[in-house]
Amino acid sequence: MNVGILTGGGDCPGLNAVIRAVVKRGLQFGYEFTGIKNGWRGLLEPSTMKLTRESVSGLLPLGGTILGTSRTNPFKNEKDAETVIRNINELKLDVIIGIGGDDTLGVAAKLYKRGIKTIGVPKTIDNDLSGTDFTFGFDTAVSIVTWALDRLHSTTEAHQRVMVVEVMGRHAGWIAVYGGMAGGADVILIPEKPFDIEEVCGYIKKRRNEGKYFSLVVAAEGAYPKETAGMITKDKELDAFGHVKLGGVGEFLATEIEKRTGLESRFVVLGHLQRGGTPTAYDRVLATRFGVRAIELVHENNFGRMVALQGNKIVDISLEEATSKLKTVDMEMFRTAQIFFG
Ligand code: F6P
Repeated sequence: MNVGILTGGGDCPGLNAVIRAVVKRGLQFGYEFTGIKNGWRGLLEPSTMKLTRESVSGLLPLGGTILGTSRTNPFKNEKDAETVIRNINELKLDVIIGIGGDDTLGVAAKLYKRGIKTIGVPKTIDNDLSGTDFTFGFDTAVSIVTWALDRLHSTTEAHQRVMVVEVMGRHAGWIAVYGGMAGGADVILIPEKPFDIEEVCGYIKKRRNEGKYFSLVVAAEGAYPKETAGMITKDKELDAFGHVKLGGVGEFLATEIEKRTGLESRFVVLGHLQRGGTPTAYDRVLATRFGVRAIELVHENNFGRMVALQGNKIVDISLEEATSKLKTVDMEMFRTAQIFFG
């Protein structure tokens, strides 16, 4: 059995830990492994590498992905999809394990319908994939946001300022909610709940009136004001999966807050810091459990599935179900965060 492995979409701490787990467990079944470079692009313009016990040794704590990644979408046109299927056959790959978010796994779901054996492993720091309670990478991102808030806290307080911290989270504000709660944010803004800028300023003024001369605001990059049509973007260019480049809500908020409250305001964009570097212990364990289960599904001839965490159990669900809708923030969780606003 020749198992192809690829990583697609934005990188995420724990990708290498999954690759290591798949290969180490799969070698016990006597399988061989072909690493496909740069996501689906490595099957469009074939680019592969052999994965052996030696090549996966030492990968557990390593950030990024040894396979490289891309946001190439072969289903953007039918000719590319046919090329990918032809190359899978020519490379004699019996099955593809795709490690990715809804875009990468959406491709795996479509290929499965076209007769290719695929398995998905959910990856995204945004934690917005359906059917799994958590994706690996999320815990690492939250811990980096918490680390940043702890540091920003003291300088913001010393200068009696308002600090707006823009974190990742395109359509779902999971990082903002968990990071904001862990770091003691005074206001948290998420894409699921368009904000009222006057209400945000109200929390800050209330704190001021109660003798708290500084405030920390955490905003997911996809958060936007009620009165605008949608998210604040850097430019209008779309990637292969139709996403615009987000960014700018932190700057927007700092400008508006300063204008409306008269309080000196600054903003920080945490950006790719949240995605880089070594995974936390939690993410290493989750990535390892996902990788082991993914190759066991191959061994059980159970394809078109995505491994998932439900409660503390690793289960599998259909790729189609997992990629059919995004998992947005649980509003009960958000209401708990809101108790600490202002
Ligand atoms: O992987 C998801 C994500 O981290 C989003 O939160 C973010 O909008 C996007 O990737 C940005 O990625 P890039 O700058 O690599 O395109």
